[in-house]
Amino acid sequence: MCGITGYIGHRDAYPIVINGLKRLEYRGYDSAGIMMYDGETMHLSKTKGKVSDLEIITNREEERKKGKIGIGHTRWATHGVPNDVNSHPHFSQSGDLVIVHNGIIENYDTIKKELISRGYEFKSDTDTEVLVNLIEEVKKSEGCKLGKAVQLALTNVIGAYAIAVFDKTKPNEIVVARLGSPIAIGVGKNNEEFFVASDASPFIEYTKDAIYLEDGELAIIKKDKGIKVRKIENDKEIDANIQKLQLSLEQIEKGGYDHFMLKEIYEQPKAIIDTYRGRMLANEGVIRMAGVDDNMSKFLNADRIIVIACGTSWHAGLVGEYLFEDMARIPVEVEYASEFRYRNPIITPKDVVIAISQSGETADTLAAIKLAKSKGAFVFGICNVVGSSIARETHAGAYTHAGPEIGVASTKAFTTQITVLSLIALKLAQAKGTLSTSAVNKYLQTMQQIPAQVDKLLQIDAQVKEIAAVYKDAKNCLYLGRGFNFPVALEGALKLKEISYIHAEGYPAAEMKHGPIALIDENMPVFVIATSKGHYEKVVSNIQEIKSRSGKIIAIVTEGDETVKEIADHVIEIPDTEEAFTPLLTTIPFQLLSYHIAVMLGKNVDQPRNLAKSVTVE
Ligand code: G6P
Repeated sequence: MCGITGYIGHRDAYPIVINGLKRLEYRGYDSAGIMMYDGETMHLSKTKGKVSDLEIITNREEERKKGKIGIGHTRWATHGVPNDVNSHPHFSQSGDLVIVHNGIIENYDTIKKELISRGYEFKSDTDTEVLVNLIEEVKKSEGCKLGKAVQLALTNVIGAYAIAVFDKTKPNEIVVARLGSPIAIGVGKNNEEFFVASDASPFIEYTKDAIYLEDGELAIIKKDKGIKVRKIENDKEIDANIQKLQLSLEQIEKGGYDHFMLKEIYEQPKAIIDTYRGRMLANEGVIRMAGVDDNMSKFLNADRIIVIACGTSWHAGLVGEYLFEDMARIPVEVEYASEFRYRNPIITPKDVVIAISQSGETADTLAAIKLAKSKGAFVFGICNVVGSSIARETHAGAYTHAGPEIGVASTKAFTTQITVLSLIALKLAQAKGTLSTSAVNKYLQTMQQIPAQVDKLLQIDAQVKEIAAVYKDAKNCLYLGRGFNFPVALEGALKLKEISYIHAEGYPAAEMKHGPIALIDENMPVFVIATSKGHYEKVVSNIQEIKSRSGKIIAIVTEGDETVKEIADHVIEIPDTEEAFTPLLTTIPFQLLSYHIAVMLGKNVDQPRNLAKSVTVE
């Protein structure tokens, strides 16, 4: 994780770098730092805390903000606790080189010992300070320029990195490199200025031209001269691929909402439409998805589908399991990417792997994809971030068109992932004939109603807020659901944990009697999904069991339900839809509930403690 940003050109670099850091804070926010070069001196400001804490320091002295070159960092600690010293940027021993780094240098200890034996001293506990000194040592011993020194140093490094390095003895260039962690370079007009960042959001208002470095590439960025991209392994120059960005500034701002999370919850009707637009003609029963169409034989001949993902994306994958098995009758296994990659899984060329990731950068998911590919499986990606590592690493894929998701707690990514999974499941059901034409058409027409239903559901915000006020001081909560809504129970519990720090567990409703029921007393709020089509009677029995043990019941039911209303302490009604699509609705009240509880408890909704949006370390 960590966000890095930089600028070299004719403008004042400070506002670009500092505002860029604010946009990248979703990547980590336990410390922040900036180096500004004013033409003579490098001014370093860094601190534990957020970018706003860094600004308190830079605002004290104007010279900390001077210069046309700057690099900055917002950190999610890996090596070394979050404190001022471990914050980036880090200087080399001579003070000539300065670096910002996102990732982990796994063999840093061996390199550090070697450098210590050569007289280097270290101020911080970071692997990053080791890397900058390794570059300095190579530069000295080889007598080479910065670009070459970075390239040679990186051939000795094991791990993952995105770095930006500046050398004050050659102050017209920044060298950047990547392996496993993303880096984008914004290209200004006539090569007069360049921007560097972990994603394109810091420079979107300055340029739409961007180069996304591939793994194992390094770029030497020279003001007024341009960019040279080289392969790290052999130093060969390659063509720089400049892409036109689709992102707009408006998309990455809060647009009047108090928090990104709330904005993103409210964006879901549009995000779902954007995701299925152009992919289905509901009245004609047509589903078009190039990534699936072009590889239909792979899907149809698959022995099974293995879904790999982490966090909320894993929950969407679980919904996918129900969708694929129910509609297309293909066996599905859903795996945590972090477990899958390390347990010597049995994968064959007859497996189709679907990797789901909002960011497209999650390290465990990326590694699991590489493993599946090495065993001959066809790998299909479902990502939100266009051009992300996972989007590029997979054989084919489909984007969710949710737009940028900034709040750490994922919301619209989840519902749009389910939308894509639904379309794929229906497409395969159509091709295999496991659903009749009329059944597929009915599903598509029902899908078309979902955005308006989500919109309607968002109007219950005030009711959910009242419920949040009642349960905000709970110490533990239970979330129960069955079938398609079991993953929603998991996701509901995750949302609450992530942003309010209240302990919550999600369970399949019927499993309650095998353990969680022991926890139920008058202090335990139990959130139960009891929609009319999903094993309704069974869930009602579970609700009775909770009631008899004095648990507090907050039930999500289908509009018009009378039975549960009699038993539950609170009911939240959702519009009627196909059972397979209920997760797109039942998840909304849980998102709103977590949001309101976190706000009432005074928590930082968009930047919850210890978490990061994009987990690029394992
Ligand atoms: C982090 C985020 C979660 C996300 C998970 C997987 O933990 O905080 O919101 O679900 O990573 O991320 P991905 O980008 O792969 O979906």
